[in-house]
Amino acid sequence: MTDMNDAATRPISQTDTMPILIAPKAILKARARPVGPADADAVRDLVPRMFATMYKAPGIGLAAPQVGVGLRLAVVDLMPDDKPAPIVLVNPEIIGVSAELATREEGCLSIPGQYAEVTRPARVKVRFHDAQGIRKEIEADGLLAACLQHEIDHLDGVLFVDHISALKRNMLMRKLAKAQREAT
Ligand code: NI
Repeated sequence: MTDMNDAATRPISQTDTMPILIAPKAILKARARPVGPADADAVRDLVPRMFATMYKAPGIGLAAPQVGVGLRLAVVDLMPDDKPAPIVLVNPEIIGVSAELATREEGCLSIPGQYAEVTRPARVKVRFHDAQGIRKEIEADGLLAACLQHEIDHLDGVLFVDHISALKRNMLMRKLAKAQREAT
């Protein structure tokens, strides 16, 4: 996910970055598979590269399908007070949502330069495993709640544009395609 108020200061990383897939792509619409014990090495390799890719973009969240990996894995860092606060989400699940909704402008590294207002539950409870395999829960509101929902959506092949009207979505995707054509 990208944020309009994204901080300019990002951690400098020597880690290799990965190309970010731009919509439309089949893997961005596919349901990712759960991370299992056999994926431990892949996850250990991917996590630093996903953070480096996200910080460089810059973005505040990145899901594995966006770098071409169909695993239920995402990284998030809202950089509160411009300080890194990385969160690794392995097999995240939303286990509770508020009835109250919140609307916020969202962007996505796979839909660069396009933004739309998206309405989602204002607060969420998310259960996940961290990079060390420790089971954790987060209760989030505000930007973090939106970001967690946005990233978990990616693992189900859902993009933020899937939450807006077909008319707005088609317009936005046409603008994206035009911008991508002009960039190449
Ligand atoms: Ni996104």
